[in-house]
Amino acid sequence: MKKILVTGGAGFIGSHTVVELQQRGYEVFIVDNLSNSNPDVIDNIAKITDIKPVFGKVDVAVKDELFGFLKQHPGIESVIHFAASKAVGESVEQPLKYYRNNINGLINVLEAMKEFGIKNLVFSSSCTVYGQPEKLPVTENSPIQPALSPYGNTKQINEEIIHDFIAVNKGINSICLRYFNPIGAHPSGLIGELPIGVPANLIPYITQTAAGIRECLSVFGNDYNTPDGTPIRDYIDIVDLANAHIAAINRMEQGKQKSALEFFNVGTGNGLTVLQLISAFEKATGVKLNYKIVGRRAGDIEKVWANTDLANKELGWKAQVPIEETLRNAWRWQQKLAK
Ligand code: NAD
Ligand code: WQD
Repeated sequence: MKKILVTGGAGFIGSHTVVELQQRGYEVFIVDNLSNSNPDVIDNIAKITDIKPVFGKVDVAVKDELFGFLKQHPGIESVIHFAASKAVGESVEQPLKYYRNNINGLINVLEAMKEFGIKNLVFSSSCTVYGQPEKLPVTENSPIQPALSPYGNTKQINEEIIHDFIAVNKGINSICLRYFNPIGAHPSGLIGELPIGVPANLIPYITQTAAGIRECLSVFGNDYNTPDGTPIRDYIDIVDLANAHIAAINRMEQGKQKSALEFFNVGTGNGLTVLQLISAFEKATGVKLNYKIVGRRAGDIEKVWANTDLANKELGWKAQVPIEETLRNAWRWQQKLAK
C-alpha cells in the first residue's frame, strides 16, 4: 500500500482529497495543527471510507514537529502540501503571520522530502498568481502578475522556492496545481467547508444567507465589463478538485512528467458571474436568496476562468460535476452545520 503524507488534511480541500486517496488504496498520514479545522473531520472521513487515517496534530511550520512525526512513520513516498493560512483579507492585516506560516511550512516540507526520501510533491497553488489576465481563458503560460495581497504573494514565492529546490534535487518531482474557486461539499454531507466567523467567500455567504444566519448577501458591484456587470469566476467542485490531486500523484508515480516541475490549472473551463451563480443556487435548491447590489470590493478582479486543456490532456483529468449538483451539496452541508 502506498503511503502518502497530507499536510492540512483536516481542512476543506485536504479532507476531500484524503477520502479520494483512501478510496484508491493509499495509506494516508495527515498532519494538521487544526488552526482552521476541527478534529471531528478525521472521524467523518472514516465514516465515509471506513478507514481511519493516521493523524498527527503537527504544526508544519515547526520543523521538529514535522520531522518527529515522519520519524515515527517511515516509508512515505509522496506528499500533498495543503497546510497554509488562506484568508486574503487577514493576510493584509497580518502579513507576517502569512509569510511565517506559508513560507516556513513549505521549507520544512521540502527539507523533510530530502531527509526522509519523499519523492513526489503536489503543491496547492492558486489562480491568484495570474492577477487579472489579459487573455481569457487563462493558460499556464500567462504571465505571473504582482500579487494583490500577502497571501497571494506567498503562493508566488512558494512556486519560486519549489522551482529552485527541484532544480538541484534530482529524483524529486513536483506538480503545482493552480486552483480556481473551489466550492461544494462531499455528497455524503459528512465533510465540507468550515468558515469561521463571517464568511469572506461567496458560497458560504450564500448558503448562510439561505439558512437565515445572514440577513442578506451583498453582491460586490454590477458595473464590471461582463454580461450582467458582476465579476466572473471559475467555480470548481471540491470532489473534482480532489481528484485532480490523485491524477497529479499518479502522473509522478508513473514517471509521466515532461519535466520535474509542472504547473496545471484546475478549473472547469467555464466562467460564471455572481448573478448566474445565485440563480443556479436558487434553481438547484428551490431556496430564494435575499441579495442586494452594493459597491465593489477592494482588490477584486473583474473576470478569470481557466483554460484547462493542459490538465485535461496531460493529467487525463476533467471537471465533471454539474454546478447544480455542487450547489446542492454545499446546501446539504450548510443544513448539517446549522444543526
Ligand atoms: P483550509 O483552511 O480549510 O485548510 C488548510 C488546513 O491547513 C487547515 O486544516 C489548517 O488547520 C491547516 N494548517 C494551516 N497552517 C498549518 C500549519 N502550520 N501546520 C499544520 N496545519 C496547518 O483551506 P483549504 O481551502 O482547504 O486550502 C488548502 C490549500 O489550498 C491552502 O494552501 C490554500 O492556500 C490553497 N488554496 C485554497 C483555495 C480556496 O479557495 N479554498 C484556492 C486556492 C488555493
Ligand atoms: C467570488 C466572487 C466577489 C462574497 C478568493 C481569493 C483567491 C482564492 C479564492 C485562494 C467575487 C463576489 C463574494 C460576497 C460577493 N483563494 N462576492 N459577495 O475573490 O474570487 O477569490 O478565494 O487562493 O485567492 O482571492 O473568491 O468567493 O471571495 O468571491 O459578491 O459576500 O463573489 O466579489 O466576484 P475570489 P470569493
